[in-house]
Amino acid sequence: MPLYVTDTPPGRATFEADRAAEPDLQTDTITIPIKLCNLPPFNGIAAKVLALTSDPEIDLQQVSLLIEGDPAFAAEILFLANSSLFGFQSRMHVLHHAIAILGLDRVKTLAVTVAMRGFLGNRSPLVHQCWRHSAACALVCEQISSWYDFSAQRAYTVGIMHDIGRLGLLKSYPQESALVLGGDYQEAREVLDAECKALGVDHGCAGAWLIDNWGLPEAFSEVCEHHHDAPRRNDSAILRLVRAACGIAEAIGFPAVKCRRQLSYLEAASALAPRLGRKAIPPEEELRAVVTARLAAFER
Ligand SMILES: [Fe+2]
Ligand SMILES: [Fe+2]
Repeated sequence: MPLYVTDTPPGRATFEADRAAEPDLQTDTITIPIKLCNLPPFNGIAAKVLALTSDPEIDLQQVSLLIEGDPAFAAEILFLANSSLFGFQSRMHVLHHAIAILGLDRVKTLAVTVAMRGFLGNRSPLVHQCWRHSAACALVCEQISSWYDFSAQRAYTVGIMHDIGRLGLLKSYPQESALVLGGDYQEAREVLDAECKALGVDHGCAGAWLIDNWGLPEAFSEVCEHHHDAPRRNDSAILRLVRAACGIAEAIGFPAVKCRRQLSYLEAASALAPRLGRKAIPPEEELRAVVTARLAAFER
């Protein structure tokens, strides 16, 4: 991770006072603003589901018992399992029945989605906008996953977490983040610079730190940290996939931050062209309609 020297923003007395009261965390390579460190841990059940489902020997009963240990979490899983997100015709009333029908990979995506919803807490309009971007990115990931030889569920799970740093900063520093996200930007790189100036860290590095701190899989932190970087030849497939999906989600109307120089859909989707051929890129309207309809499952 690059080193960012904390640079206190001008005229933000509360932020300065908070920083004076408790020092930021200095790791070997990065300064993490203290309130980000003090965020509650990622949902323990979701983290265990992620760990359990990566074990090929795991059986459905174990996962079911784990989730049933938290009735509120289990209820949320059932709610999403029955929502338009998945489009199953018959209603699932019992958790182990839902798990048997959906399969472990789907349950993993549900557990992460429920945990993310819980992490957001009360949603300001900005949190809502960033959450919609993350969810839209996850849904686009799912749609384009086969071109990167990824399972749709795995792509979705990493996609929904890619901007966890932005959500974490919004949650821990709402005023400073609101000022940053409300700025006037030509392009996304400027938003990252503004984050560094205001908070000492950009949302990519903040997200990677959160993922490591929560003990979540390494692939998540790689994507969090580098999804706004220019493409490099040795980028992993999942990083390339999420980077493309993030740009496409913005281009079809779900940006986390509005920039004046916004890629068109075809420009954003051109990242897919080497794999798809230009003619095979899904029509913009079709993709937007799919994402919009499925996003409705998150809203209630
Ligand atoms: Fe991002
Ligand atoms: Fe994004």
